[in-house]
Amino acid sequence: MSTSIIRADDVHKSYGRGQTRFDALKGVSFSIGEGESIAILGKSGSGKSTLMHILALLDAPTNGRLTLGEIDTRSLKGRRLNRTRNKTFGFVFQQFFLVPNASVLDNVTLPLKIAGVGAPERKRRGIAALEQLELADKAKNKAVNLSGGQKQRVVIARALVNNPRIIFADEPTGNLDSKTGAIVEDILFGLNREHGITLIIVTHDEDLAARCDRQLRIRDGELVDDTAQGVAA
Ligand SMILES: Nc1ncnc2c1ncn2[C@@H]1O[C@H](COP(=O)(O)OP(=O)(O)OP(=O)(O)O)[C@@H](O)[C@H]1O
Ligand SMILES: [Mg+2]
Repeated sequence: MSTSIIRADDVHKSYGRGQTRFDALKGVSFSIGEGESIAILGKSGSGKSTLMHILALLDAPTNGRLTLGEIDTRSLKGRRLNRTRNKTFGFVFQQFFLVPNASVLDNVTLPLKIAGVGAPERKRRGIAALEQLELADKAKNKAVNLSGGQKQRVVIARALVNNPRIIFADEPTGNLDSKTGAIVEDILFGLNREHGITLIIVTHDEDLAARCDRQLRIRDGELVDDTAQGVAA
């Protein structure tokens, strides 16, 4: 059994209050091992993005506890919270758009800038990440001029430039044609296999989910299936 990198204990999330209160997560518990690849599945509105945002420390549970390694994340606030998120996670979210008129390299190195890394080191690591995604020749191009698949590869380069322990991806192939989607998938699973980066992917795509070590199914804010449960280790 690998060590737990994230653990959710009875996580609840409610939006609004009083009569307009909506319970988006109703007590979800599971543990994710370092280096696992996890798919989070469920219908639209079931609570997948809500859960992902809580796991990624972008939002806090209304009740319950989230543990990152040994850290009770309720103790993380302000700068320490931002630093932990920036250092530990990479994000492949469609809402986290590229800055269209900035260069590909500047987009990729943004997390390093936020972390206070100096310009020469940022450039070195940014180019190295772009090389992994076979995009080094586009470093100076404006992000807006790339194809859809190239943009998604830039988003992945940005997600891995900080050497994250966990990559969170929300529908990473949702807007891509099947061939480009397959390339993006291969890159993500390559990072998981070769660098031991834990992958947490929200998807509607059953084929993509089947490539993951484990599938978590959410229905109406509850965890209704976890393929790791009942499977002998
Ligand atoms: N800020 C908010 N305020 C009120 N309700 C919200 C808020 N964010 C999400 N919800 C509600 O919580 C529920 C879960 O939303 P969530 O975004 O987690 O769904 P999802 O499973 O990611 O869906 P999709 O597949 O469509 O992305 C939905 O009913 C949604 O309307
Ligand atoms: Mg969603």
